[in-house]
Amino acid sequence: MNSIQTFLSIGAVSFFLISCGNNKKIDRDIVEQVNQANEVKKVAESEIIAHAMKWGDEISQDAQATLIGALQKAIEERGVPGAIDFCQVEALPITDKVAEKHKVEIRRVSVKNRNPENQPNELEKTLLDAYQYNVENDINSRSNIQKAEDGEVLLFTKAITIPGGLCLNCHGEPGKDISEATLEKINSLYPNDKAINFKVGDLRGMWSISIPKKEVVKNM
Ligand code: HEC
Repeated sequence: MNSIQTFLSIGAVSFFLISCGNNKKIDRDIVEQVNQANEVKKVAESEIIAHAMKWGDEISQDAQATLIGALQKAIEERGVPGAIDFCQVEALPITDKVAEKHKVEIRRVSVKNRNPENQPNELEKTLLDAYQYNVENDINSRSNIQKAEDGEVLLFTKAITIPGGLCLNCHGEPGKDISEATLEKINSLYPNDKAINFKVGDLRGMWSISIPKKEVVKNM
């Protein structure tokens, strides 16, 4: 691909708001016009992709740390079966909150999903297959960027493997890693659960983060 130049405006609205003080009224249309005239940033496609890769990685780490922190706290306070209730109610709102903060969409998808909402779409399924191939063949998976929605949105993905025993309490082998009480709870809340019988190192799923290109440019 040759170097496609993309023109995107970045907002300097906050600067204008601060510099005008509290009492003066601001015409937002005029502010927008000024921004568009003065603050048009010329960015090469390759720079956008490189930045999206780095930013996607930061977002997935933020989401991962937030989820694991909440999970550990829930296990301490309620025990493993009780933490299942917590995950059912809180897992999606927690990732949504991180997504809102960064103005992106965050999903955790898996072919062997527990929550049917985490079913991959066609593109996600292709990427998951590639990550699965790598895990099975001992190839280190890198994160990946794909274009989605007419090229205006970039899809950042990153493999989620099972790092250790904590996860097996709820995703391992029933009877061995998963206690009877926990299994009962899982089956009552997720009658179509597919997310068991994993081992340490297995591919559990992947982060799927849709980042609008204009947000990438704003963040550069
Ligand atoms: C206390 C039990 C529990 C533990 C421990 C746990 N999970 Fe989960 N996990 C769940 C539940 C419940 C869901 C479904 C959440 C929902 O309904 O949104 C889930 C969903 C997921 C999903 C989303 C895909 C799907 O299957 O729906 C991934 C990925 C995942 N877990 C990975 C992990 C990893 C990695 C660990 C270890 C760091 C871990 N889990 C530890 C209970 C647990």
